[in-house]
Amino acid sequence: MKIALVGYGKMGHMIESSAKALGHEIVATIDVVSKDAGVVVEAGDYDGVADAVRKSGAEGVIEFSHPSAVVGNLRALVPLGIPIVCGTTGWASSEEEISALLAEKNGVAMRSSNFSIGVNMFYRIVEEAARLLSEYSEYDVAVWEAHHNQKADSPSGTALEVARRVMAGNPSKTEMVVDAFHERPKANELHVSSTRVGSVPGTHTVFFDSPADSIELTHRARSREGFARGSVVALEKLVSRVNSGSLARGKLYGMSDLFD
Ligand SMILES: NC(=O)c1ccc[n+]([C@@H]2O[C@H](COP(=O)([O-])OP(=O)(O)OC[C@H]3O[C@@H](n4cnc5c(N)ncnc54)[C@H](O)[C@@H]3O)[C@@H](O)[C@H]2O)c1
Repeated sequence: MKIALVGYGKMGHMIESSAKALGHEIVATIDVVSKDAGVVVEAGDYDGVADAVRKSGAEGVIEFSHPSAVVGNLRALVPLGIPIVCGTTGWASSEEEISALLAEKNGVAMRSSNFSIGVNMFYRIVEEAARLLSEYSEYDVAVWEAHHNQKADSPSGTALEVARRVMAGNPSKTEMVVDAFHERPKANELHVSSTRVGSVPGTHTVFFDSPADSIELTHRARSREGFARGSVVALEKLVSRVNSGSLARGKLYGMSDLFD
């Protein structure tokens, strides 16, 4: 597939390597700063971004730029009608607007805050494990995550999704608690705790614990490469499902639409 990359920073470079390894052709690399990008546009020149994508003959776009630029990029890219995979985070409040634009222009896009295939499989494994163990009231459950000490937010967005999957599988857990407890937890509370230390790229564990034993499920990222490869696989699947008609145009999809 001919792919255009919008945003040619750390992720853009990794996505280029992954896409080539998977047999795709990178027909454009577009950025506002990156000196080695094929096309450098002025910050805020979203039409310039879309123009470069259109001229490149791309059959798919992968966008990993900046929270301040992503909505402008999407507003300009959606009318091209080329399937878009967007990994930039921090624009949840504009999702409705972009969904409406996709419907109006008959475009198609997918966004996820975590494109790792392993994490998306982990979500499903966790939900199923929570469902199985919810049959046995002696098993309690908790979520824990660790990340490097440069990460500003906690819990991670991935930990919150893991917790949502636990709650989907175990309806007796109705409340997420992300702070420290100063009293005994109630039976309906799901504790989600975080550690910030060193250089950990991202570890997420779900503990199931009974008086007799415990089960721990862990996803441990080794690097950010999984996100890059996952975004290319997501584009492959999105394009093939749109072409086969199993996914309709005019919509904003998530990773779960490909894997559930
Ligand atoms: N969804 C996921 O799985 C996932 C994984 C890792 C990172 N991310 C997110 O992806 C985004 C990028 O991450 P990164 O580590 O590559 O950051 P980065 O800062 O290394 O690269 C971003 C690049 O985008 C460029 N850019 C800014 N505005 C632009 C515009 N209008 N058009 C084109 N390029 C523009 C910047 O100049 C920069 O080179 C962040 O929001 C990050 O949180 C998502």
